[in-house]
Amino acid sequence: MTRTAPDSPPHFITTQNWSIENLTTLIDRARALRQNPVQHLLKNKTIALVFFNPSLRTRASFEIGAFQLGAHAVVLEPGKGAWEMAFGDGEVMDGAAEEHVREAARVLSEYCDLIAVRRFPMFEDWSLDRRDHVIRAFAAHATVPVINMETITHPCQELSHAMALGDRLGELRGKKYVLTWTYHPKPLNTAVANSAVMIATKLGMDVTLLCPDERFALDERYMNAATKNAELSGGSFGMSHDIESAYDGAHAVYAKSWGSLAFYGDWEREKPVRDANKHFIVDEAKMARTSDAVFSHCLPARRNVKATDAVFDSPRSMVIEEAANRLHVQKALMTTLLGVAGEIR
Ligand code: CP
Repeated sequence: MTRTAPDSPPHFITTQNWSIENLTTLIDRARALRQNPVQHLLKNKTIALVFFNPSLRTRASFEIGAFQLGAHAVVLEPGKGAWEMAFGDGEVMDGAAEEHVREAARVLSEYCDLIAVRRFPMFEDWSLDRRDHVIRAFAAHATVPVINMETITHPCQELSHAMALGDRLGELRGKKYVLTWTYHPKPLNTAVANSAVMIATKLGMDVTLLCPDERFALDERYMNAATKNAELSGGSFGMSHDIESAYDGAHAVYAKSWGSLAFYGDWEREKPVRDANKHFIVDEAKMARTSDAVFSHCLPARRNVKATDAVFDSPRSMVIEEAANRLHVQKALMTTLLGVAGEIR
């Protein structure tokens, strides 16, 4: 297989280097697979699912999706049933890791047709975490396509979110989209927030990143990507700290919590800042300001912390649809990466 950059197709590391046309085609194929879910398009193929972090949706949907396509998925959890792994070039491996990604990625490539990786940041030093070095190392050393199951972005979630938005709202261009930060007792990954602003701007939506103050801005890489996407798509992108105006007239509200990059690794200092903003919870009063907006969250979500029961249980909530779509979009993705997508019935 010809190699380009380690985050470029044939891998699926980020949507940013996939065109909107190719992403739209993936979602169309996911809709076809939703209609006709069991098609053995990947008969006798194998996929390695490498989880460095826990999961409910991602693991279940990839395993079940592989089964429905006639493939077999093997789940590996380094440090818990599989060897701990090292990633550094030239690293002296005298710590806990028994295995280097250079061998692991190549060995898995001998067994498998695809490798999917979940590896969250370490939450100590953003200048290191932002390199996304684990999945990039897999992509650099594997000889089969590599799929991001969430690192510092969550591109599979983007696809399922975009599919749900399209199902609910139809034409997305020009619709007002709010990504709202919400409180959570622990600092969380920025991955879904990074992904949300990238995909919503790519879809031509008018996107507002609502957060308590500029210390909750996303990494400039994703702020810049969203700005560039909006320029290309005819949408818009901006940050606001004003709850009322952000919600006014919105067509979609996406909730997510994340830790402040301004305090990254210094979470004791960040905690009082986060604690002071519990009022960012998505509730009925805020949703009443919208244009009958749909609500979503990537899940898992803490009820009555991120959003109220009434919002989660509202007919405008699409959290279950979005989660369900993970199955369909990942099947579309696996078949596309393995070159059989044109055969979907
Ligand atoms: N949204 C999502 O990725 O869910 P899991 O963490 O349960 O996989």
